Amino acid sequence: MTEWQKTNWRNKPRVQMPDYIDAAALAKVEAQLSQYPPLVFAGEARRLKQHLGAAGRGEAFLLQGGDCAESFEQFSADAIRDTFKVMLQMAMVLTYGAKVPVVKVGRMAGQFAKPRSAPTEVLDGVELPSYRGDIINELAFTPEARIPNPSKMLQAYTQAAATLNLLRAFSTGGFADMSMVHSWTLGFTDEQDVQKYSEIADRIQDTIDFMDAAGITADTTHEFSTVEFYTSHEGLLLEYEEALTRLDSTSGNWLAGSGHMIWIGDRTRQPDGAHVEFCSGVLNPIGLKCGPTTTAEDLKVLMAKLNPENEEGRLTLIARFGAGKAGEHLPRLVKAVKEEGAKVTWVCDPMHGNTIKSATGYKTRPFDSVLREVRDFFGVHQAEGTVPGGVHFEMTGLDVTECTGGVRAVTEEDLSDRYHTACDPRLNASQSLELAFLVAEELTNLRRDRKNRAAG
Ligand code: PEP
Ligand code: CO
Repeated sequence: MTEWQKTNWRNKPRVQMPDYIDAAALAKVEAQLSQYPPLVFAGEARRLKQHLGAAGRGEAFLLQGGDCAESFEQFSADAIRDTFKVMLQMAMVLTYGAKVPVVKVGRMAGQFAKPRSAPTEVLDGVELPSYRGDIINELAFTPEARIPNPSKMLQAYTQAAATLNLLRAFSTGGFADMSMVHSWTLGFTDEQDVQKYSEIADRIQDTIDFMDAAGITADTTHEFSTVEFYTSHEGLLLEYEEALTRLDSTSGNWLAGSGHMIWIGDRTRQPDGAHVEFCSGVLNPIGLKCGPTTTAEDLKVLMAKLNPENEEGRLTLIARFGAGKAGEHLPRLVKAVKEEGAKVTWVCDPMHGNTIKSATGYKTRPFDSVLREVRDFFGVHQAEGTVPGGVHFEMTGLDVTECTGGVRAVTEEDLSDRYHTACDPRLNASQSLELAFLVAEELTNLRRDRKNRAAG
């Protein structure tokens, strides 16, 4: 077998990638990016892999979340801070339910390239190429804006680097100090949320006060004042991924230096395609979206290609079927995993199977469908005796109106108020936290059932 090369994907069929017109301009950008430092280091990717392995065994739980698509225009420190904050709050709620560490992974610092369901878009009789994310072209509906421009990769790299820098500062600079949970106010939430949330926050505060009294403080205990936060994105634009791929000198393996974890989308998981080829050779933890059209045979081939050594934490299967459909699709895939004796981490993405067009014309997702898919997912794992290892959400810390429902209900009429996403609709801060409470409930029930079964 010939050794894996970061350029091998170029010999495979590719889908969902742009055709750059100016080959010289593309080559120049690739050469420049190849000189830039990687954004993440191999040791970090390996550590995340260990955490994901623990999630696969039920000894940790993954919370993966962030924008559908990061945007150049909406790039701001406040937006990053608010999403980081709401993820920490959600993680606290989930830890409370799961009683295991929550692994926090942002769809951040690299989530720029988007697969699309159609190559073109028609508006008032005018047909233009689809928008494919800020790293490729522009959202504006003009012929010029939709031309893929390779120099956007440089801007994406710069934004990713600045985002990661801020995340690293937040993670270790005191912002994530557990004793500050009460000051993480986001100025949202209805009465019920506030009450539930403050109960948990009070109990954590009690524990911290007790530990303080016992002489265990944030000053002496690193774990309470810092947080590990990882980045992830869909590894879609392979020119960008290849240019940031580096040889890890300590292991002799290749690292995708663009983010800690990269995933393969539902539209690019062809077993013989370019995306699978690229991901098969890098040492990072890899996510694989599994949708209604994923067959057991395909999954077996993909698991063999992406994780031939059957390494724990290497492969995260991100199920996204739609509300009411997990029962139809998930069991055959769970069975395929069992038959292969494969080690995987099962995660639920209740967003991408639940996108609908509202009567008011906006793409939206009803909160109830999102919640229902999470419950279906837990139900199937409960029945199969397998481990639900985490959740994957499109969400923001901002108070947007993109998904309908939630206790502080967003209606279809409200969608136009603050609909800011460049791509898919995101849960707002209040909906995200509410969902975290509901997932925590599922986790609590699961633990209770396990205990009862063990006892009984
Ligand atoms: C996404 O995660 O934004 C996405 C496009 O998902 P999927 O590939 O599952 O449709
Ligand atoms: Co999306």
